Amino acid sequence: MSYIARDDRPADKAERYAEVEAEILAVLDGEPNVTARMATVSSILADAFPAFFWTGFYVVDPAKARELVVGPYQGTLGCLRIAYGRGVCGAAAATGVTQIVPDVHAFPGHIACDSRSASEIVVPVKGPDGELIAVFDVDATEKAAFDAVDADCLERLLGRVFG
Ligand code: SME
Repeated sequence: MSYIARDDRPADKAERYAEVEAEILAVLDGEPNVTARMATVSSILADAFPAFFWTGFYVVDPAKARELVVGPYQGTLGCLRIAYGRGVCGAAAATGVTQIVPDVHAFPGHIACDSRSASEIVVPVKGPDGELIAVFDVDATEKAAFDAVDADCLERLLGRVFG
């Protein structure tokens, strides 16, 4: 299936997520490779939401205990490795709970990969057996860009793509 970038998406955020989710699932139909699935999620979401400045995955490193390593993403250079418990991504990995940070500069231990990032959401990503396989991180240059709608919609989308 070919994917056509478009800018006539619904203005309502939840509706926009629903439309994008359907497109992602259609593109990924029959594709089992996890890297391909992560790359597609990053690409389509970054294209669909202009406020998304950095959009991508930190994956659980099978070679190193309690450490994330950067995976597929869209955006400026991200740091390569994040230990569980460090920064926003590490907090999401350690707790298994979505983190919404309205002002990253006020978050203790925030890892500044790009100083233009002002707010952030990080969603734990579970595999088919419910195990943590990655976290999905979105940064915005505006403060307080993310709310419960983003959390709900991203959790549902990621659950459908990777669960
Ligand atoms: N800000 C993140 C680090 C990853 S980047 O923003 C791409 C954090 O504190 O977890």
